[in-house]
Amino acid sequence: MNKELEVACDAAREAGRLVKKMQATMSVSEKSKNNLVTTADLAAEDAIISMIGSHFPAHSFCAEERHESTPRDADNLWVIDPLDGTNNYAHGIPHFCISIAYAQRGEVRAGVVFDPMRDECYTAVKGEGAFLNGKRIAISSCDRLDQAVIATGFAYDRGFTMEKTLEAVHGLFKSNIRGIRRMGSAALDMCWVASGRFDGYFEYLLSTWDYAAGMLIVAEAGGQCSDRAGNPLALSAASIATSNGKIHKEFLDVVRWRE
Ligand code: IPD
Ligand code: CA
Ligand code: CA
Repeated sequence: MNKELEVACDAAREAGRLVKKMQATMSVSEKSKNNLVTTADLAAEDAIISMIGSHFPAHSFCAEERHESTPRDADNLWVIDPLDGTNNYAHGIPHFCISIAYAQRGEVRAGVVFDPMRDECYTAVKGEGAFLNGKRIAISSCDRLDQAVIATGFAYDRGFTMEKTLEAVHGLFKSNIRGIRRMGSAALDMCWVASGRFDGYFEYLLSTWDYAAGMLIVAEAGGQCSDRAGNPLALSAASIATSNGKIHKEFLDVVRWRE
């Protein structure tokens, strides 16, 4: 296995063990209204950075809780969401994950998303396909928006972005989609597009660590990612629209951000 992927998988599994173990004793605080952080988020981030740092001491980190502002185009960059789905985690909802990506000068080369409650580990290395627990995965065959199940996420801010999201959800229902899901973990939403459980997913306000590993996993599974305006997704983006590719145009026609 690719060395970066191997280290990322070990770190994600270790963080998964840690957050499960801490669930009964962790404490929760608010970074801003509705945006939670727990002692498990911080401990998981420390464990991941220490494990990766011991293998790659010269590499840089962009991680949600303490290292968020590192330039996205660094030569060797690890993009880490130590616990994606903190709101679920804090409320005892068993749907959250650990997301780790390795990027070189803005291009994601390896990614892992680990769901510790289902013991599902999604992995990808650039050009080598996407896998779930070692078995190759592929996007769904759905080619019509009116047969699609779409996931989304709602911004913590309850203002303009929330209104736009609700407008887009309304538009999707008017297009007669099969269903909307709001699961609460962006990285898993993307992996579920990659594995064909969802046909598409969009969210108007995200951070690099939410989608860095997922974007490679979706691409390697045969899917498509763009930002909310329809541009190809870059690590500097702050939004996402991703799908199995077959419905991407129809999907974007509805969810594209319009000022
Ligand atoms: C959040 C989750 C959620 C999404 C939010 C993210 P966090 O990440 O991915 O599904 O809707 O936009 O911030 O805070 O749990 O790491
Ligand atoms: Ca996140
Ligand atoms: Ca997080």
